[in-house]
Amino acid sequence: MLAYRHLFHAGNFADVFKHTIVVQLAALIGRKDKPFVYLDTHAGLGRYDLAHAWAQKNSEFENGIARIYDRDDCPASVRPYLDAVRQYNPDEELRYYPGSPCLVYRLLRANDRMVLTELNRDDFAQLQNQFRAQRRVQVRNMDGYQALKAFLPPRERRGLILIDSSFDRANEFRRLAEAVVFAYKRFATGVYAVWYPLAEQPAVHGFEQIIVESGLRKVLKLELSIRPGDWQQSLRGSAMLVINPPFGLESTAAPLLHWLWKTLSVDAAGRYRIQWLVGE
Ligand SMILES: C[S@@+](CC[C@H](N)C(=O)[O-])C[C@H]1O[C@@H](n2cnc3c(N)ncnc32)[C@H](O)[C@@H]1O
Repeated sequence: MLAYRHLFHAGNFADVFKHTIVVQLAALIGRKDKPFVYLDTHAGLGRYDLAHAWAQKNSEFENGIARIYDRDDCPASVRPYLDAVRQYNPDEELRYYPGSPCLVYRLLRANDRMVLTELNRDDFAQLQNQFRAQRRVQVRNMDGYQALKAFLPPRERRGLILIDSSFDRANEFRRLAEAVVFAYKRFATGVYAVWYPLAEQPAVHGFEQIIVESGLRKVLKLELSIRPGDWQQSLRGSAMLVINPPFGLESTAAPLLHWLWKTLSVDAAGRYRIQWLVGE
């Protein structure tokens, strides 16, 4: 049994950061007619009840989605994400938080499909239940890194791959780096979104260094932190590597991250940043 349960963290500022970008990516990829596959290697529950005792324990969503749920002054690139969260709350009041599978599912077109893998049996069961009736969605109880071997390259030759590890094992940064390099070798034209926490500076640096030295091209790093750099009491920020970002991401990400930082940062601490880790 895995110790990590995302319900404790659902809708926190790192989820808001990750999900606004993933929704933006799916929307940009969907601008081209050709079908694509969405592979979510660490898919979670699919939908989270914020009234559940686990979500209420630290109420992390209060510093995340709850801060922006009612806002109407967001940039256009945040709106599809907020619309999706609101759609999961038909009574208008914030109660349910859609995870990455539910958010992307809304954007699938008739010929697109999704593959979701989740290792925790209980989370898998709930996820499977969410998508039981959906023909275009395949849900598997398996290791997300094995999923990269099993499902790449996709038959569509177009894909968005979210790798969103829970970082609850030792050496996860190394495992993640190896998985990304492996996946890229299999499917170099895929769009990859790779989330990681801004913790343990040497581990973060080591991870990015492996990516830079591995021969991958077009790696855009997006980051959002809401606490100062030396903050140790909780997660201060997180980052996402976007490999092969679709045209339009770089320009929409700037106002998106600026607004998120302005709205979510605590006492104007932290920062947002967009940086090419590796160019063309
Ligand atoms: C951060 S949560 C995922 C959240 C989800 N992607 C979202 O954005 O809504 C990470 C999930 O990965 C699962 N997990 C942990 N190790 C895994 C592995 N090796 N393969 C697949 N899933 C794993 C955990 O049980 C947890 O549900």
